[in-house]
Amino acid sequence: MISDPGLGTKRGALATEICVNESEIVLKPEMIDMNHAATMGVASLTVGGAFRKIELNSKDVVVISAAAGGIGSIAVQYAVAKGATVIGIASKKNSDYLKSLGAILVAYEENIQNALLSASAKPITKFLDCYGSDYVKLAFSLGLKGTAIGTLVPSPYVMIKGAQFTGPRHSTYDDFNTLAEMVSEGKVQLNIDQVYDFSLKSVREAYRSLKSGHTRGKKVVKVRG
Ligand SMILES: NC(=O)c1ccc[n+]([C@@H]2O[C@H](COP(=O)([O-])OP(=O)(O)OC[C@H]3O[C@@H](n4cnc5c(N)ncnc54)[C@H](OP(=O)(O)O)[C@@H]3O)[C@@H](O)[C@H]2O)c1
Repeated sequence: MISDPGLGTKRGALATEICVNESEIVLKPEMIDMNHAATMGVASLTVGGAFRKIELNSKDVVVISAAAGGIGSIAVQYAVAKGATVIGIASKKNSDYLKSLGAILVAYEENIQNALLSASAKPITKFLDCYGSDYVKLAFSLGLKGTAIGTLVPSPYVMIKGAQFTGPRHSTYDDFNTLAEMVSEGKVQLNIDQVYDFSLKSVREAYRSLKSGHTRGKKVVKVRG
């Protein structure tokens, strides 16, 4: 039995006890509390995997859709920390939040294509879609190649056109350490939208609220007091 607090992710983790392989988790840094650590597992693998697949680098101007959401808000800061210029797509109400993360906001209530083309002095080189719908189509309309477009939401269009369905499938377990380091160094702030207790009523409320599609950052269910 290992008693050190770990950081990772596993299907079925909304439980008091689960079995995980030792190689699938890393030690939780002391300065990250349990609630914040709970937001990091899926995000570490998703963001690390996606940016590996589209080969994000410091010279990139990258657009991120659903930039204020659970994955998007971490992807924005990760890309900023890597030295890229980041344009985040979200609603106007998230304008101040996205600016605080280091992104240029393009509000989806506007003509997104025009706004994207004038958002940065340098041309857009990469696109990470964290929303689905027509964002991959939008990315192609900006003149990007399929190899420069990653999406977390697969569709026949994505596959036929040669965009990259990505996320944890392109991750390594080292991605846990990378995000943990960024958080420990203050390069990534983890925003908790709301903490729920571990009752049926409360968990149902968490999923209902998540499904409404406007979470800022992550929701946490506190399994133990
Ligand atoms: N490939 C994988 O293995 C993998 C892994 C993780 C997640 N995912 C998928 O990735 C997606 C994102 O997950 P998530 O947890 O980050 O979702 P989430 O937190 O629920 O996303 C919520 C965000 O979506 C934004 N949003 C709502 N309508 C929008 C629109 N029309 N255009 C742009 N943004 C909009 C909201 O911004 P406003 O409040 O400003 O509207 C909100 O910040 C989900 O579909 C999820 O299933 C896939």
